[in-house]
Amino acid sequence: MAFYFINDNISTMKLTDERKKELEDIYQNFLHDEKILKMKEIPMHRGSNCYLHSFRVAKLSIKRALRHKEADLFVILLGAILHDYYLYDWRTDREMLKHHMSYHPKKAVENAIKDFNISPEVQKVIRTHMWPGNIRDWPNTKEARIVSNADKAICIEEASSSKAYKAKRYEEYYLEIEKLFD
Ligand SMILES: [Fe+2]
Ligand SMILES: [Fe+2]
Repeated sequence: MAFYFINDNISTMKLTDERKKELEDIYQNFLHDEKILKMKEIPMHRGSNCYLHSFRVAKLSIKRALRHKEADLFVILLGAILHDYYLYDWRTDREMLKHHMSYHPKKAVENAIKDFNISPEVQKVIRTHMWPGNIRDWPNTKEARIVSNADKAICIEEASSSKAYKAKRYEEYYLEIEKLFD
């Protein structure tokens, strides 16, 4: 099955202004939701946290999804924003450290169902985002593959920043996620 490594600068899906506004409104609601704001407390990579990371993944996923004529942008947006909605800090719990990779997608699905009543399609995106780390949870939808790939690209970029650059990254990332569509 094909994976999607895409030139991010080309867009083929035409969005009406109405659709764009609808997606932006959903994005903004999540950005300011008090439950979602809790992700700021979860550290992630150098110069990032779970909140910044998740909205960065959402922006990149939507940008890449616009290359496809039929990708479900609503599923991608929710799946990306909630893909790491596990709400615990694995660094402070040695037991959790051992199981974090396989456990956190399941925990994120559980939390997202409880707090946002997400659809099975969105659950699939969240559950499979760690593939191939979780080899049995294959992302077998276009939406799931787009988010899984965007997550990897953002992880690599965030993890590769130096400690000295960390503070600057925070500032840049907060500016970057202010809006879904620049
Ligand atoms: Fe994750
Ligand atoms: Fe992630």
